[in-house]
Amino acid sequence: MSQHTVIVGGTAGIGLATARRLAAEGHRVTVIGRDADRVKQAVAEIGGEGAQGRAASMTDRAALNALFSELGPVDNLVVTAPGTGAPGTLAELDLEALDEAFHTKFTGLAHTVQAALPHLAKQGSITIVSAASAQCALPGTAGLAAVNGAVETLTPTLALELAPIRVNCVSPGVVDSDWWNRVVPAAQRAAVLDSFVAATPVGRIGKPDDIADVIALLVRNGYLTGTVIPVDGGARLKPQA
Ligand SMILES: NC(=O)c1ccc[n+]([C@@H]2O[C@H](COP(=O)([O-])OP(=O)(O)OC[C@H]3O[C@@H](n4cnc5c(N)ncnc54)[C@H](OP(=O)(O)O)[C@@H]3O)[C@@H](O)[C@H]2O)c1
Repeated sequence: MSQHTVIVGGTAGIGLATARRLAAEGHRVTVIGRDADRVKQAVAEIGGEGAQGRAASMTDRAALNALFSELGPVDNLVVTAPGTGAPGTLAELDLEALDEAFHTKFTGLAHTVQAALPHLAKQGSITIVSAASAQCALPGTAGLAAVNGAVETLTPTLALELAPIRVNCVSPGVVDSDWWNRVVPAAQRAAVLDSFVAATPVGRIGKPDDIADVIALLVRNGYLTGTVIPVDGGARLKPQA
């Protein structure tokens, strides 16, 4: 029987690439995002009889509870939905924006895991997504580093709390996805993304499929748990002086 994998954030970017990849590996995938039209479009793009989608926000606990009850047994949960972000150095950070960033990405993740748990197979897995900002020490990303650091720190503890359910995390570098539309004006987007290439040892930024490939590995490999895997083209590495 095919595995049922729910991807919260699966209607675009890294989540949609993951849904396509896992569907191709034979999973029945359910993609979740807030926008119903995007959900419909993503399901059509994934194709096949096993693909379905639902519209819900990971911050709406009542909707998540109802949704997971309706979906029934789940083998794997993947959470790729981003937070609202909180740009700037800590000295200038808008602390309401920081609260909102934690509320969306971190607490939203916690709501999703709590809502899914009663339906998640004991031999199943949870895969979550942080960001390279947690490990890169890049001035101007204090809020992103804090939120994504919290996601990464949670991973090994959650792996022990929920064992034998496996819990892993992927930490992406810069990836060409819609995420950037919220933080950069369209006219500057290509230039901003290009500006990261020089600081990336592999000489390019990431594609959603680069990250989806590793998420699929974490879902598939029954001996991996409590790990945080950086998939960033080496961007976190700094030459020694
Ligand atoms: N792109 C990058 O450069 C980059 C770098 C490092 C880390 N990351 C992390 O990688 C993850 C995936 O990012 P991405 O680049 O794939 O983003 P994306 O292309 O913007 O896709 C985000 C997906 O999440 C859904 N979503 C957003 N808020 C949601 C919510 N509250 N509840 C449910 N679904 C929600 C979106 O659909 P709706 O908008 O319709 O809800 C969409 O399906 C995020 O955690 C992000 O922080 C990304």
